Amino acid sequence: MDGVRVITLDNPPVNALSLAYCAKLLAAVEAAERDAAVEAVVVSGANGLFSAGADVNDFRNELPADAITIRDVIAAVERSGKPYVAAIDGNCLGGGLELALACDYRVASARAKLGLPEIKLGLLPGAGGTQRLPRLIGARAALEFMLKGSSVTARRALELGILDEAVDGDALERALALAATAPAKRRLSTREAFIGDDIPLQAGPYVLAQAHAMAPPEERGGLAAHKLIDAVQAAVELPFAFGLGREARLFDQLVRSEPSLALRHVFFAERELPKVDGIDLSRAAANAVKSAGVVGAGTMGSGIAIAFAQAGIPVVVVDTDDDAVDRARQTVMGMFMYQVQKGRLTQEEAWQRAQSIAFTDDWSRLGEADVIVEAVFEDLDVKRDVFRKLDGVAKTAAVLATNTSTLDVDKMAEVTKRPDRVLGLHFFVPANIMPLLEVVRGNKTSQESLATAFRLGKALRKKAVLSGNAFGFIGNRMIFDYLGEATALAEEGVAPARVDAVMKGFGFPMGPFAMSDLSGLDVGAAIAKARGGSSARTDVLEQLVARRRLGQKTMAGYFKYDKSVGKGREPIPDPEVETMFADAARRAGIAPRDVSDDEIRDRLLRALVERGRRLLEEGVALRPGDVDIVYVYGYGFPPYRGGPMWYAQEVGALSHA
Ligand code: 3HC
Repeated sequence: MDGVRVITLDNPPVNALSLAYCAKLLAAVEAAERDAAVEAVVVSGANGLFSAGADVNDFRNELPADAITIRDVIAAVERSGKPYVAAIDGNCLGGGLELALACDYRVASARAKLGLPEIKLGLLPGAGGTQRLPRLIGARAALEFMLKGSSVTARRALELGILDEAVDGDALERALALAATAPAKRRLSTREAFIGDDIPLQAGPYVLAQAHAMAPPEERGGLAAHKLIDAVQAAVELPFAFGLGREARLFDQLVRSEPSLALRHVFFAERELPKVDGIDLSRAAANAVKSAGVVGAGTMGSGIAIAFAQAGIPVVVVDTDDDAVDRARQTVMGMFMYQVQKGRLTQEEAWQRAQSIAFTDDWSRLGEADVIVEAVFEDLDVKRDVFRKLDGVAKTAAVLATNTSTLDVDKMAEVTKRPDRVLGLHFFVPANIMPLLEVVRGNKTSQESLATAFRLGKALRKKAVLSGNAFGFIGNRMIFDYLGEATALAEEGVAPARVDAVMKGFGFPMGPFAMSDLSGLDVGAAIAKARGGSSARTDVLEQLVARRRLGQKTMAGYFKYDKSVGKGREPIPDPEVETMFADAARRAGIAPRDVSDDEIRDRLLRALVERGRRLLEEGVALRPGDVDIVYVYGYGFPPYRGGPMWYAQEVGALSHA
């Protein structure tokens, strides 16, 4: 179109606004400014998206003095006398959205996803976002949007007032048409920030104080949130230029902070996961999983079936026990109805998803499945029988997976004629919610089967981590040592409630003893037996199991539970258990000691780290980052501490152990 210049963000794969790319972009903005024939500018993106924002790799180093950043590009757009229209398609995140906010108009397609996810990296929007958004949609809505950090659809962004138009067709086409009308400049920098429609400016301090009160404490993952709120306070109280300066200083503090370094480590570690033997499994040849099978309708089997259904993959669940099937049907319906209540699904969607799970006792119905996961009783002979049967009914190309948490995958593969298509898919309870998936490689598992498992992991929105075929794989192998150390502390006279309180203080959602109670003490005892004995010096666990104190499910384990306290899930310290530990320790000749909180924390973390190091040496885990992902996504390790391996190495901690 005459007079309209298009600047296309094109820096594959995600149009990150790296320092090198910003230099080019600035040149393009300046060229458009100089060219008298250009009357308006449209900014759009190539590669199926607008931009994923700043290049996170650039944050690793000190900024060179002559570096050109997004801030310079945005300042040039702001200075320009020509109107800018952003044409947004696909992801428009972080610095990408901040660039769009500096444009005078924003038009997006139905595919667009807009967000300021900096907080998830322990940062704040540092290219004017904290100053422009409160001027566009009000401080209260801006805070909510930035503190959450999630992306929204174009329709939602329009409702919020972030967009001028959300179009069904092509955003670029519409942006070009708009630019051709020579619309007026609308610099946000010249506007006043406001709190919200119908909220007077005087309510500002209250809104900010409330946001501070709701954010986690600074030392418990809330540092970026508090700084972000401070930046918005600057938007409300200071002239634009001063606010920008304040934002930049706060951003610089965060970029160097330990929580942000840890969260950025987690971000990159996650993207390394599919890279195995020098190949990116997420791009390697794989089977498409269009339908799935599950054997066993217990808790695990139904959870896995729901996970498939949620990903739009129809699934056949085989079980011959009518009672188990009835319970599973109820679990499935209950789960989808709950999502309707929460407003996450419509009645119709819930119905459709529930319909995509078929229960049957007829094994031959597994014939169409591309992947079949067995989730039957944890017994090798039972599982080997299942694999023999599956080998007979499944199509040749199908991948057969076991959901075992401790057994040898090769012993199952060897009873089939397709050991190359057998692997472990270790889901975590509840399987439809927990984001971790350990993919276990047997000694004959083919690369294609692994690639299929990784693709499936992505479809199920899980973090798939490769593990070698060793007892307990990565996560549980480490947790055994961790729980063993917790027991050792209790044997030395530290009350279980104190051990748990220290680990909650570190940032875990629950301590080791509450965790044991949740998974069941009988389960723990059975695993210890399978492993060839427990590391404990006393028999307290066996005594508890013998007394039917099996954990939360029997309302007593290491702790007591009471229906009227936290719906029966809140651990209540039990002096009886402390006495059991004291008596058993006396018999075993273990003297009680004074143990500091730091020692409790460091000994437990060291147990994780030392086992993690050994798993790396043995090749069970590929990279320290893989171990960290397992712990962050599977076991509640605080992400702002980066995972056990990162914590031990970067923070140089654990000196008290
Ligand atoms: N910087 C550097 N690299 C990035 C990146 C970024 N912002 N975003 C993605 N990448 C890289 C990934 O590392 C990956 O590289 P690899 O192929 O070498 O492993 C590649 O791009 C593809 O990424 P994904 O595998 O994640 O691709 P998806 O299609 O699954 O997801 C995405 C795309 C939704 C854009 C996702 O990558 C994402 O969420 N990225 C981060 C977005 C973000 O946090 N932006 C804010 C940055 S901070 C900022 O802008 C500061 C500013 O306020 C000053």
